[in-house]
Amino acid sequence: MTPAEATFDTAAFRKVLGRFPTGVTIITAGTSEGPVGMAVNSFASVSLEPPLILFCAAHSSTTWPGIRDAGAFSVNILGRGDEALCRRFAGKDVDRFADVAHRHGATGAPVLDGVAAHLDCRIEALHEAGDHVIVVGRVESIAAEDDVEPLVFHAGAYRWLHIDD
Ligand SMILES: Cc1cc2nc3c(=O)[nH]c(=O)nc-3n(C[C@H](O)[C@H](O)[C@H](O)COP(=O)(O)O)c2cc1C
Repeated sequence: MTPAEATFDTAAFRKVLGRFPTGVTIITAGTSEGPVGMAVNSFASVSLEPPLILFCAAHSSTTWPGIRDAGAFSVNILGRGDEALCRRFAGKDVDRFADVAHRHGATGAPVLDGVAAHLDCRIEALHEAGDHVIVVGRVESIAAEDDVEPLVFHAGAYRWLHIDD
């Protein structure tokens, strides 16, 4: 059966997807050429037993091959104060790790100081999906700060959730 043609264009598709508010993460890895990282909002939980998560990496990403070859990565979940960090890790032609304090997590992947939470993962499976690859990670180590308001991405803008309890 021939796949149905989409009845909308990419711009309309992006606009609709943007109506779904997400958190924002920076996926990092340690490579032989130093630490690498990229801003990612396609992060999602997959399984509790075993502990699995996923994110989607664009085939066009120049950072993804380094993460794939490292075989392990850290998901750094961003808080309200991390908007500039996120912009930096989405930007081109910048030294993304300049002055960014970090330590090595359980898998060796960089964990950025001050993030709301992080998950250290090894690549469990890769699934090709259109112009992205779905990366499934098995979680080896986790940590979270208390009372950090999350950074939220919605309709192309950075926002945050005020926690009032
Ligand atoms: C809020 C936000 C979310 C993003 N989410 C993803 C994502 O889920 N997957 C992805 O491949 N790129 C995502 N990007 C784009 C990457 O951060 C990066 O800009 C892109 O991969 C180009 O850089 P690179 O060549 O170093 O990979 C996102 C960017 C922003 C600002």
